[in-house]
Amino acid sequence: MAKLLIIYYSQGGNTETMAKAVHEGALSSGATASLKKATEATSNDLIGCDAVILGTPNYFDYMAGAIKDFFDRNFYKMLNNVDNKPYAAFSSAGAGGKGALDSIDRICRSLRLKKAFEGVVAARKPSSEVLEECKELGRKLAQL
Ligand SMILES: Cc1cc2nc3c(=O)[nH]c(=O)nc-3n(C[C@H](O)[C@H](O)[C@H](O)COP(=O)(O)O)c2cc1C
Repeated sequence: MAKLLIIYYSQGGNTETMAKAVHEGALSSGATASLKKATEATSNDLIGCDAVILGTPNYFDYMAGAIKDFFDRNFYKMLNNVDNKPYAAFSSAGAGGKGALDSIDRICRSLRLKKAFEGVVAARKPSSEVLEECKELGRKLAQL
């Protein structure tokens, strides 16, 4: 059974709503999936999962500071211990820009994580279509 980890940050709730949909999708595929706030996630969480999905609001066309802080705190503990682990990402923005996802891709490349699927980007409150995309993302990662 796949063990999925969803790490996210949300201030206003939009990214959290997406994270819960990803979680629901992963669970519906029979995976074990844990949902962790970036401030509470540890290097061992990432080292111990089969695949990770990262969720962030778009802040100034970049990931939120809390997600960056997770990488900053844990980078050397994770480096060489997560090679080729599949990841995907999702983001909520005011206007739908994908800069936050690009910034996550750059760090994941440094960690030699393997991008499994293109991310989901949504503007503000996620629509039912966006939430369906999020569930699908969770399902797909669970089935790798
Ligand atoms: C500090 C800050 C910076 C932001 N920068 C951007 C930005 O550059 N581009 C954009 O489209 N939205 C920007 N936004 C809007 C948020 O990305 C958007 O409201 C998002 O839905 C918030 O997600 P949350 O509800 O999970 O916190 C910014 C919001 C904040 C608080």
